[in-house]
Amino acid sequence: MVDRQDTPTRPVAEHERGADSPAAVFPPSADFAARAVAGTDFVESAAADRLRFWGDQARQRLSWHVEPTETLDWSGAPVARWFADGRLNVAYNCLDRHVEAGHGDRVALHWEGEPGDSRSVTYAELTRDVSRAANLLASMGVVAGDRVVIYLPQVPEAVVAMLAVARLGAVHSVVFGGFSGESLRARIDDAQAVLVVTADGGWRKGAVAPLKPAVDAALAVGGESSVRDVLVVRRGGNDVDWTEGRDHWWHEALEGVSDVHEPEAFEAEHPLFILYTSGTTGKPKGILHTSGGYLTQVATTHATVFDLRPESDVWWCTADVGWITGHSYVVYGPLANGATQVLYEGTPDSPAPGRWWDVVEKYGVTVLYTAPTAIRGFMKAGREIPQARDLSSLRLLGSVGEPINPEAWLWYREVVGGGRTPIVDTWWQTETGAIMISPLPGVTATKPGAAQTPLPGIAVDVVDDLGTPVADGESGLLVVSEPWPSMLRGIWGDPDRYAETYWSRFGDRYFAGDGARRDEDGDVWLLGRVDDVMNVSGHRLSTAEIESALVSHPIVAESAVVGAADETTGQAVVAFVCIRDSVTLQPEGKEAMVRELRAWVTRSIGAIARPRDIYIVGELPKTRSGKIMRRLLRDVAEGREVGDTTTLADTMVMSKLEAQVRGN
Ligand code: WT7
Repeated sequence: MVDRQDTPTRPVAEHERGADSPAAVFPPSADFAARAVAGTDFVESAAADRLRFWGDQARQRLSWHVEPTETLDWSGAPVARWFADGRLNVAYNCLDRHVEAGHGDRVALHWEGEPGDSRSVTYAELTRDVSRAANLLASMGVVAGDRVVIYLPQVPEAVVAMLAVARLGAVHSVVFGGFSGESLRARIDDAQAVLVVTADGGWRKGAVAPLKPAVDAALAVGGESSVRDVLVVRRGGNDVDWTEGRDHWWHEALEGVSDVHEPEAFEAEHPLFILYTSGTTGKPKGILHTSGGYLTQVATTHATVFDLRPESDVWWCTADVGWITGHSYVVYGPLANGATQVLYEGTPDSPAPGRWWDVVEKYGVTVLYTAPTAIRGFMKAGREIPQARDLSSLRLLGSVGEPINPEAWLWYREVVGGGRTPIVDTWWQTETGAIMISPLPGVTATKPGAAQTPLPGIAVDVVDDLGTPVADGESGLLVVSEPWPSMLRGIWGDPDRYAETYWSRFGDRYFAGDGARRDEDGDVWLLGRVDDVMNVSGHRLSTAEIESALVSHPIVAESAVVGAADETTGQAVVAFVCIRDSVTLQPEGKEAMVRELRAWVTRSIGAIARPRDIYIVGELPKTRSGKIMRRLLRDVAEGREVGDTTTLADTMVMSKLEAQVRGN
């Protein structure tokens, strides 16, 4: 929950945005305005009748075994049912129907491995691969409703595994490869997964990063797990340990398995996947998404926000399938729409800084969707790198994951988009499942730094602590005021936390956890999180989770973690740590201890959570009731003058702490 005392509805990176936003406005290009997939008619039809609009989208964009006649069943928060009497198979919608429509030879995936190997997979091939994998999983006892964990690098098999699970009506839980074995085990246990699909390793920054050892470690600790089998894709070629009976090579297991599989229809509200994300407590939340509503909204938004023309576009969303962006805009949206896309395994700068632009040039990418942190990284590396490539195929650019600062927006448009391409800044969350607030390229005059307009069929508001809408120009809290098709349906195994986190503050309005402001035109500017959730390189991390990892180290008595503004990553993890009295620390031992604690966090959560800075301090600033005042720590971490300390129990703590930080 939002901690009112400690975290006011104030932007995390206020200096980057807000009242000082540049006046630049870019009207939609004539070309887009004339022939956009979504024009003003589209916007007006949704405004005229929201539910009818969504019903139409569901029927027009998807193939149903049984068409829904009901659109929304909502008698108030927190339970919504969309298209509840409809039945469909999600994988069939992403695969077979395109083949049946005569597009079997269209490339679905242009896969590019980091070392430079590549493979293109057509819709016909992908349909066969997924069918074969579904038959294999079924033969291993996976049935509808079972949970399957997928822990893979960005390889075609990740897409195949997700769709094979979906085809069976089983539920996937994809765990990003950057998470540790411990995090993996927690997710396996929480969902009681019966099977894990992993790889020996994947390519990252010029080397093989092993994955299988993390699975071995996950399954070795803490007694019997729910996992019966582990399927291992061979990718890295690295040596792996093997548990006979449990472990099976993916390619060997698939030998001789039929590639014909009849998809069964499931109810629209049948669970599709769980995806864990960080909240305000130490325990990640398993966000649950279901089938019909989710697929409707990802297909609609992918087609309209990105003006998708499946016959001619080459789509590239750079997100990993381990995040919601990868689920919605690598797997389900693009494939439901029959798009051709690029899937890239590695990092933007391997083997050289121009790698992404080489990929754009090689495949003639037309629409690119990436994160502000990547754009800022490219800005730092210099415009000559993209400018040395032919990027003229690009016609539209998207941004997601955190507020984009106007400078990065303008650079993206100028240098990557050659000054021609509209930019869509898309706001959404793991919980929302699909894009909620974004310009439409043929309709919206865009403003650098703002996501601007709720999409057709979506209703949002900016309210104060009591839920009253604030005036334009004032900052407040973002709420979604009507249910939407791809909304989360719950937190796996924890209905109370679901109700409490999202629906307890403003009744039937969804509390997003973001600060926002509307400008004089009514356009929405996102101002960052208002809770203890950080956003590091577009990845969501919880302060509480990193704190609890730190205090589980035997020498740590107490810790406080804050997200501090960072030029490249948006925010960075900064930890303040108090050592147990029983531990005597030599000044020269400090460095080693900081190194050790960094490694400890990496081991317990994963490399993505490793703190940028760790400061060993004597005491943490607390209120009289014992609450840590993270606001003050954020001031220190960002090198600002420390704010109001009058509510501290001991007002001297901050000056001591500042001296200690300087000495660290
Ligand atoms: C949080 C959700 C959406 C997929 C990737 C992140 C922030 C996301 C924007 C944007 C400003 C943004 C919000 C949100 N965020 N997109 N365009 N402008 N902020 O998904 O890990 O669930 O994180 O990312 O703070 O709440 P996530």
